[in-house]
Amino acid sequence: MIELSVNGANILWAGDPMLRLADFLRDQLGLTGTKVGCNAGDCGACTVLLDGNQVGACLVPMGQADGRAVETVESLATHGILSALQAAFLRHGAAQCGFCTPGALMATASLLRHTPTPSEAQVQDALGGVLCRCTGYRKIIDAVLDLANADSTSRNSIGDGVGARRPRVDGAAKLTGAEGFGADLLPEDDVLHLRVLRSPHPHARFTFGDLAAFRAAHPAIALLLTAADIPNNLYGIYPDGKDQKVLADGYVRHLGEPVCALVGPAVALATILDVDLPITWTVLPPITFTASSPNLHPHAPGNILCQGRVARGDLTHAAAAVRAIINVQTGLVEHAYLEPEAGFAQRLGDRIEVTACTQTPYMDRDELALILRLAPSQVRVIPTAVGGGFGGKLDLSVQPLLAVAAWRLNQPVRWVYTRAESMVATTKRHPSRITAEAAADSTGCLTAFRFHGDFDTGAYASWGPTVANRVPVHATGPYRVGNLLCTSTAWHSNGPPAGAFRGFGVPQAAIAAEALMDDLADQLGHDRLAFRRRNALGVGDATATGQLLGAGAALPACLDALAPRWAALRADAATFNASNTVLRHGVGVACMWYGIGNTSMSNPSAMRIGIAADGRCTLFSGAVDIGQGSNTIMRQIAATALGVPDDAIALVTGDTDTTLDAGKTSASRQTFVSGNAARLAAEGLRAEILRRANAGPTARLSLGAGKIEVRDQGTCHTLDLTDLPAEDGLVLQHIGTFDPPTTPLDANGQGVPYASYAFAAQLALVEVDTRLGTVRALRIVAAHDVGRAINPTLVEGQIHGGIAQGLGLALMEDYVPGRTDNLHDYLIPTIGDIPPIETLLIEQPDPLGPYGAKGVGEPALVATAPAILNAIADATGARITHIPATPARVLAALPR
Ligand code: FES
Ligand code: FES
Repeated sequence: MIELSVNGANILWAGDPMLRLADFLRDQLGLTGTKVGCNAGDCGACTVLLDGNQVGACLVPMGQADGRAVETVESLATHGILSALQAAFLRHGAAQCGFCTPGALMATASLLRHTPTPSEAQVQDALGGVLCRCTGYRKIIDAVLDLANADSTSRNSIGDGVGARRPRVDGAAKLTGAEGFGADLLPEDDVLHLRVLRSPHPHARFTFGDLAAFRAAHPAIALLLTAADIPNNLYGIYPDGKDQKVLADGYVRHLGEPVCALVGPAVALATILDVDLPITWTVLPPITFTASSPNLHPHAPGNILCQGRVARGDLTHAAAAVRAIINVQTGLVEHAYLEPEAGFAQRLGDRIEVTACTQTPYMDRDELALILRLAPSQVRVIPTAVGGGFGGKLDLSVQPLLAVAAWRLNQPVRWVYTRAESMVATTKRHPSRITAEAAADSTGCLTAFRFHGDFDTGAYASWGPTVANRVPVHATGPYRVGNLLCTSTAWHSNGPPAGAFRGFGVPQAAIAAEALMDDLADQLGHDRLAFRRRNALGVGDATATGQLLGAGAALPACLDALAPRWAALRADAATFNASNTVLRHGVGVACMWYGIGNTSMSNPSAMRIGIAADGRCTLFSGAVDIGQGSNTIMRQIAATALGVPDDAIALVTGDTDTTLDAGKTSASRQTFVSGNAARLAAEGLRAEILRRANAGPTARLSLGAGKIEVRDQGTCHTLDLTDLPAEDGLVLQHIGTFDPPTTPLDANGQGVPYASYAFAAQLALVEVDTRLGTVRALRIVAAHDVGRAINPTLVEGQIHGGIAQGLGLALMEDYVPGRTDNLHDYLIPTIGDIPPIETLLIEQPDPLGPYGAKGVGEPALVATAPAILNAIADATGARITHIPATPARVLAALPR
């Protein structure tokens, strides 16, 4: 019998002393605030207090908890009132997706008990074991220091509507542990579990032996699924390019490809070893990015999936006082969201419901309908809270097999990926090999740009076509250049399927372009920032695709904002270097641009807002909030458009049965596209109210119980809602739709691929240890053209998080299939890796944006890696062309 106290309650438990404390808390006590991100002591998501000290609950066997006191995140709030620590996190936007948040809170709680007024270094030390993939940690540090030091100057104001630093609408749930992620939610009925056998080979054929005998030997297994059991065993992102099997049919193209699935009680599944399944493998030589034959797919001769091209002007006659050329190589990068994929499915009559983490519920619904050979109306997708996505949860993961199994069994089925499974089975950032060349005239004007990028899209297409199309459009960087040829090729290999990852190939291309800008500037003897400023795309300029930029193209303003910091940081670095030889400081600058939304493709969003007879207003938003804050943003926009306080609007989100299709959460499109849809919906509702009240456009609305009061020029008109006929529970409602105006690109890639572009410029100050080859970022300054910051706190948080991922891309992240399938060997930035970040929000409203806003999710990341790599070159003369800049690569690149 084990006796322990959990959040002050005494508990006697007779069970396995080796059970992990995290599992006990979650599964036995229902305290799902404690998250499991790795189950291996690497991520800190499961951090709880044991006798007041932080421990990883996934590493503590129940036997060790005997006689001790456990505190979890559920203990922090009192009767629903957030503790001061939670309130500080909420105020500062320190929780984005919220998956790491309980662990971060508990680690902080322990710190503050021992050290009530910690320094920044002590905060970093205390939270060193808690990984966060979203926030870039700076808001967490700010929150703790604010609370501990009662620094009232750093407290954010609240306000209302567009432009206000509103706390996240879903923040309290993330801070108390109440938020329901994929692994937290369970169907009410008895649930079976699903487990998949995955290929141990990157390229192989296989046959099954006697599966009937296997089933007979394991009677507890309720279902064994192979490819033959999948009604339509084919899926993929593009309607005309479906190439991926739910279960492989005798041939696997990447390590970890699912081969068969077992469904049954968790205990029964756990007793079965992979080798128990009768499978015979014939291993084939792997097709790699560098040895791309024989053909992996019949429809992709030469293993070329697709190609992209943008051409303009005449490269042969471009003036060239100076030329620069570079070859860049980047590797696989893992999304490393802290929440492993998870969910459950259940059949309800002739419908299937899938509750899972996803970035794209409507795409999932339609794809699942195809796989099950059902009508889309027979499929309901209910997104859970998403513990980070960054593009990785745009592809299907647990959904198809859960749906097939639950449909077949007519019983709920659940599946939670292990950390290793999450890393081996999901998409990655495309590895790339890039050659780029640029020229400038003697005055410092860019005259020519040539680019070719080969991208390894791995075993299946996934979002490879998107990368191949987006990269040539952006490859020049955000600069005016009249003569260019930018091409790309997406290659198949036996690598992991490469898909969407914050930037769709643009971050890789920017590394090449920004190195060229430094090279050209240096050859001309020009200041590197001034060189960029001279060539920066601005209002009225033509892009690589010949698109004329309208108002809101604010890269020049970004660079102007950085200029004083650039001068100061360079002076500081020079002073430091004058007296140091081993440690060298350097400052790098890089710019970026990013087209918002799909490339030359329709990507509409629809939002519905309505008022019930009791006066309650609800925004029905299908935009999935994966941590970026779209729930909060949509409400701020709708509240402003309707003319009511934010809190007057309730939210219904995500569920395909209750919301309209807002498109996927990707391509930095939700604020711009769905934000416009929310604005239009609320404006339409307001117009209807004003029409009924016969009031003018400046009238003030106030929603009351069963009525709306409309005050206009000294008169007050009351709309009685109780008499109005209701539809779907709403007496007044309006739908807003928005689809960004774009045009197809012609054979030379000319046209209008995006309705809006975000721009940014970032500075990085780094320190390079020339004996060890290590690089430390000391400071980042980021100037971002965001059009209009709907919520500055959330925008800053996106920028911080993007910078952290860009830093990881530059310095440490290198996924090796089969070797780094955990958060111990696959390094992502910790709180100690992130330097102070100064964020400068440049607000020049985009005429098409909702209240002028653009997206910032991907733009936040793109400039960071090139700025850091340029800073390393500035510090040492070492130009790193094979990314990440590991110590060995830095040492090898140092000038002799
Ligand atoms: S789940 Fe325990 S450290 Fe990651
Ligand atoms: S908020 Fe930290 S992992 Fe998402």
